[in-house]
Amino acid sequence: MNEDAFRTVIEPFRIHSVEPLQMTTAQQRREVARAAAYNLFQIHSSEVLIDLLTDSGTGAMSRDQWAAIQHGDESYAGSPSYFVFRDAVRALFPYEHVIPTHQGRAAEKILFSVIGGPGKVVPSNTHFDTTRANIEWTGAEAVDLVIEEGRDPQALHPFKGNMDTARLEALLTDRGEDVACVMMTVTNNSGGGQPVSLANLRAVSEIAHAHGKLLILDACRFGENAWFIREREEGQSGRDVPDIVRDMAACADGMTMSAKKDPMGNIGGWLALDDDGLAQECRSMLILTEGFPTYGGLAGRDLEAIAQGIAECVDHDYLRYRVRSTAYLAEALDHLGVPCLKPAGGHAVYIDARAMLPHIPSLEFPGQALAVALYETGGVRSCEIGSVMFGRHPDGTESPAAMELVRLAIPRRTYTQSHIDYVIEVCERVAEQAPDLTGYRIVDEPPALRHFTAAFERIE
Ligand code: F0G
Repeated sequence: MNEDAFRTVIEPFRIHSVEPLQMTTAQQRREVARAAAYNLFQIHSSEVLIDLLTDSGTGAMSRDQWAAIQHGDESYAGSPSYFVFRDAVRALFPYEHVIPTHQGRAAEKILFSVIGGPGKVVPSNTHFDTTRANIEWTGAEAVDLVIEEGRDPQALHPFKGNMDTARLEALLTDRGEDVACVMMTVTNNSGGGQPVSLANLRAVSEIAHAHGKLLILDACRFGENAWFIREREEGQSGRDVPDIVRDMAACADGMTMSAKKDPMGNIGGWLALDDDGLAQECRSMLILTEGFPTYGGLAGRDLEAIAQGIAECVDHDYLRYRVRSTAYLAEALDHLGVPCLKPAGGHAVYIDARAMLPHIPSLEFPGQALAVALYETGGVRSCEIGSVMFGRHPDGTESPAAMELVRLAIPRRTYTQSHIDYVIEVCERVAEQAPDLTGYRIVDEPPALRHFTAAFERIE
């Protein structure tokens, strides 16, 4: 037996500065939920005990990131902080042009306002909602081509984020002229945080390039994706994660990126490209909407913190802990009989609310019922990803979403195992009450993106 092998994967850090959590009673939380019209986005975060709404920008920065902040140079043009940032990006993603933005969706907005437009189509494994929205905003069409297993919550496959290459080939053959670029989201957030294999990335790259199209990575969780490649793909075990990331980068011609995810920034993103002409057009848009090309929408100190975070997020001890601690939550829920999307993703566990609350019809929002119950019972904030988020269509009609999920997203390095043990206990208690939970109706909603502001009423 390996004397270094222990069952417990501990947090590979100790705590250096703490933030108090505010304890509340169930009675108080029921009042808070009612006052927020049962919309968890409307609750003040000080009234949340464990916040699993998102893993975006909510991670804990390291000592070295805070130290890097002190190196921030706030010059308008040519700040050394930009070059530190650019070099950190290029150490993993050696693209010619690195363009900072204030967050991921700004990179998407810039790229698609240049290459999108009416009549165009952009395939991906699964577009994240802001990516889809930015493509559609230009009048182009966003198409999801994830493999069949990626659409089934219970299907077991090591790379459920893979793209269906036959469907991609068919799209490029039928509508090659219209395809603005091919995208790949790593990991596939909207499909459950599932990874893409290097083999699939290479196949997609070959197909895209054979048709003369750019392949762009939506690379938010590239470190987690590379770790899954190392763990699960034939011929990849034992490799250095930064090398795997560079292999992923070599498949593509550029990337959009949210630095609020794997690079552990509280804010930030970038667009990177090899093509000089395209980069020039994107930089012109950047100046219009974000800022001068050496800071984008960011302060110099943010660029420094991100550069340090990029190096930290490919550390093996960190990634082992990150992926293992997400799986720990998923395994405990599975053990309790709480139905979850399988296998566990890198950054989140997704509870299958349709399977857990079969007595609540989709348009009475089982995911919302579950998310509110998790909050009222234990102060755990999660996010409905189901018919509240996707049920209302641009033409005003309403229909059930493909899946009714509740996402428990794990902020990086923020909660300890005992926080997660508490979340497991809250889920257990909610599972016991499941038959008594009732659905919701929406009493007020905006014309688009209703999940952020809709008001709900509980159906008694
Ligand atoms: N792409 C993916 C795959 C994402 O998950 C996100 C954000 C973005 C792009 C946009 O980046 O927020 O910096 O503008 N996802 C967050 C989430 C919001 O909760 O999953 P951003």
